[in-house]
Amino acid sequence: MADKEREVSDKEKNEETVKVKLIPVYVMGKRYLVPETLTIMKALEYAGYQFIRGCGCRGGICGACATVYRKPGDYHLRVGLACQTVVEPEMYLTQIPFYPANRASYDFAQLTADPEEIFKLYPEVFRCIACNACTKACPMDVQVMDVISAVKQGNIERAATLSFNCIQCGLCVSRCMGELPQYHIMQLARRIYGSKIAPRAQHLNEAVEAAGSEKCQQTLEELMKSDIKKLREIYQSREIEPVLADEDWTPAKRDYL
Ligand code: FES
Repeated sequence: MADKEREVSDKEKNEETVKVKLIPVYVMGKRYLVPETLTIMKALEYAGYQFIRGCGCRGGICGACATVYRKPGDYHLRVGLACQTVVEPEMYLTQIPFYPANRASYDFAQLTADPEEIFKLYPEVFRCIACNACTKACPMDVQVMDVISAVKQGNIERAATLSFNCIQCGLCVSRCMGELPQYHIMQLARRIYGSKIAPRAQHLNEAVEAAGSEKCQQTLEELMKSDIKKLREIYQSREIEPVLADEDWTPAKRDYL
């Protein structure tokens, strides 16, 4: 592209940037004008806030940025993750970076897969009145009430499977009339299921065993003796599994396998 053309197109681009519509949002009662294309998190930064808490992965997986908001003329209290939810005009919002909830302490190694273990640690699970407010508050669409029902029925596998997408944001707890710490209960169910109920993956056992073998140890020692330059070379020349590789793909160079 000729220089002149490039100049024109850059100018158009800049003009386009300036043309992004600003919309009003209210953060803890204060009005700000922010670009309509931003997520709540970016809009808050645009408005001058700096995140010290309430922000972690920025990718919708850490649960640090729980946000509650209302829209004008709507009684409904909405929830979302600040890093994923795009701002809307007149949105009235606040963040809940942390919600205090009872977390039982336990020695996990001593626990068994008996559901009674969960009942003992979290007897409040039976305070659930099945109002489903927890499910409505979940930004990850976890069927929280169903998970709690599964726990009460002693079905740890179902509880773990249904709550797999929980990111521990705590919004369920903020809405619970029974004062349950759902996200901690669900986490315990997943831990028990993963460690004490789910069948062991044979290939994982083999990989763990191989990691402790002499061959692996020698390789590790070699790597630990290498300087940064050498480590970079090894890393950059490694054989990467192709994105569309078959399931039985293995690297051509198998010295360390
Ligand atoms: S910052 Fe991690 S979920 Fe939003």
